[in-house]
Amino acid sequence: MDGEVGMIGMPLEEAVRTRRSVHRFRPGARISDAQWRKLFELTELSPSSFNFQPWDFVVVDEEERKRALYPLCWNQRPVLDAAAVVAVLGDKDPHRRSEEVLRQFVENGYIDEETRRAYMEAVDVLYPDEARRIEHAVGGACLAAMTFMLVAHGMGLATLPMIGFDPRGVRELLGVPDDYIVTMLIAVGHPAGPELPRQQRRGFEDIVHWGRFGNRRDAGPRSGQGGEVG
Ligand SMILES: Cc1cc2nc3c(=O)[nH]c(=O)nc-3n(C[C@H](O)[C@H](O)[C@H](O)COP(=O)(O)O)c2cc1C
Repeated sequence: MDGEVGMIGMPLEEAVRTRRSVHRFRPGARISDAQWRKLFELTELSPSSFNFQPWDFVVVDEEERKRALYPLCWNQRPVLDAAAVVAVLGDKDPHRRSEEVLRQFVENGYIDEETRRAYMEAVDVLYPDEARRIEHAVGGACLAAMTFMLVAHGMGLATLPMIGFDPRGVRELLGVPDDYIVTMLIAVGHPAGPELPRQQRRGFEDIVHWGRFGNRRDAGPRSGQGGEVG
């Protein structure tokens, strides 16, 4: 345990195996300032294209604000009972920080000045249109969201990612500018009891394609050690 913050040295496999989407939260429980700080200090270590970090978070932890959010989230009870609801925003404008971020690449010894200029142009090539900007924003923000949920779990907090909300209403309530996408909301707080058992996953054979979509290997040892390549 890391003092009052509650960071647990949980092995990674255990953390991944035991994280759940929690639907019942203990009302009235709070998250301390130190816990918020720890949560976001670790969340911001998530990877992102060009290290643009296309994520921002709006934390809704006041009762009145949660009550306003509740009907916009299909009356999902965790919005009221969890200590907070965190809106995970994806930033559609990767240029916003390109000067600063690419300058850091030079200062930290990753690239020289000439490469920096080439990278500045590459940004335009990589994010040429609205569709690519949305992909970048959502992809980046979702990686941060996953980090957030695992870190919260490691700290003994429960989370529920939610896509069940009125995007326009939530955008308006939280004052989210047009350049940002509300990728998901995450209720975070203290669990109120055991969840139902985890539902089935599709499984290794179903989700893994080898070399080309549709290529399967014969079911061999599940560990991937040995076995013929089909
Ligand atoms: C992006 C996203 C949106 C989700 N939206 C909701 C939601 O609005 N309401 C809800 O009860 N669960 C929601 N879930 C939770 C999923 O139902 C849950 O992750 C899934 O059933 C697997 O369960 P597990 O997270 O406990 O492994 C969402 C999950 C994700 C990743």
